[in-house]
Amino acid sequence: MNQLLQTRTHRHEEYAQSGLNRCLSAFDLALLGIGAIIGTGIFVLTGVAAATQAGPAVILSFVIAGVACAFAALSYAELAASLGGCGSAYGYSYAAFGEFAAFLIGWNLLLEYGMSVAAVANGWSGYFGNALHALGLDLPLALTTQPSNGGLMNLPAMLVILLLMGLLIVGVKESARLNAIMVTIKLITIGVFLIAATGNVDVANWSPFMPFGWFTRAADGETHGVLAGASLVFFAYIGFDAVTTAAEEAKNPQRDLPIGILSSLVFCTVVYILVAAVLTGVVSYKELNVSSPVAHALELLGHRWASGMVAAGVIAGLITVMLVLYYGLTRIMFAMARDGMLPAAFGRLNERTQTPVFTIVFVGVFCALFAGFIPLEKLAELVNIGTLFAFVMVCLGVIMLRRTQPTLPRPFKMPWSPLIPLLGTLSCGALMAFLPLDTWLRFLIWLVIGIGFYFGYAMRHSVLAAQSR
Ligand code: ALA
Repeated sequence: MNQLLQTRTHRHEEYAQSGLNRCLSAFDLALLGIGAIIGTGIFVLTGVAAATQAGPAVILSFVIAGVACAFAALSYAELAASLGGCGSAYGYSYAAFGEFAAFLIGWNLLLEYGMSVAAVANGWSGYFGNALHALGLDLPLALTTQPSNGGLMNLPAMLVILLLMGLLIVGVKESARLNAIMVTIKLITIGVFLIAATGNVDVANWSPFMPFGWFTRAADGETHGVLAGASLVFFAYIGFDAVTTAAEEAKNPQRDLPIGILSSLVFCTVVYILVAAVLTGVVSYKELNVSSPVAHALELLGHRWASGMVAAGVIAGLITVMLVLYYGLTRIMFAMARDGMLPAAFGRLNERTQTPVFTIVFVGVFCALFAGFIPLEKLAELVNIGTLFAFVMVCLGVIMLRRTQPTLPRPFKMPWSPLIPLLGTLSCGALMAFLPLDTWLRFLIWLVIGIGFYFGYAMRHSVLAAQSR
């Protein structure tokens, strides 16, 4: 076993002995996944993708993105079960590829989680505006719209992040019970929509089914079609990897993690297909490019009470998605700082609150600025490209570790390896390729900054590399 893997596995044993309460069952883990997964993706991006990229065939976009995620999820499950508490894709790639790749993955996770908080805050702001409107209050458009869409800033999105910042500083944590309550609220919200709207489905709205075809790239680099839609709505599936971060608190991680990851993913895929089908069936897809499409569609149908309930449910439900992502980001920065990959200030706890206050404020200010000034689709696309890159590395990690560490105990062994991880690599790589050129450009700039930071700082401060010398 190589030195780094040994150190990591040793840490895993430390976690195992750390006395953390092993109390989460497979069911709790699945709920945790569902709590982190269902959010802005289904409640907002379904409308954007239907109106601008896929038409009613956004249903197929969800199927395609779901299949790519399933391949990646199986890879996650194998690595999570064998490497356990090593901590998401950052830890796995350490074991599989060594420090540089792990740093790059960690760097991309920062992009994924940071931009996700900002993107979900945007989705939240749309429904918040919708609820205020129902109460007869309208915020000026300039204060709810980013500059590139003709406004000044998205103020509610910024404020909700600053609110979460305060909560995290005083040590509010997502608990399994709060999560279960929020999952219930979100599922009731979706149930209300399906029950109120299904009777209004008019099959004429599904025709033309694929107005934008499978895939085209316009001269300005923007992409359209079902496949482009899949690479946007992929955002809706992000979060199942959050299950792996709870490995240390699972009763039987080896058995329950794969069950938790896969069952939450399958459940969400079914829900997404139903919501996408009904949403595009009740109004023309052209009506859906708004900030709160699900509530908007119900309003157009005259179901005002259902629209209000949906808006309220989304406002409550998205808070937990942001909390999980924000908290996850501070944890990843904490782990990277502990390994010397980020400055030590990010790994320090405040003495009074016992929370990483510096990291929380740093992250909060940046996320709020992004949420206020960059539109939702652009944020989501950036999140997706970073996440897909991490997924590709996780799939390749499975293939690599099977070769380099054949004797590593694998309590969950994915079937048909290396076929499935290869399909995962290809499908996630393809979804990356379907993203617009400007997203690729921003992603490459982020990578270049990261590589510069690695050679300029992280490599010289690496704790694990110093141990293995
Ligand atoms: N999957 C999460 C959402 O859609 C990030 O909000």
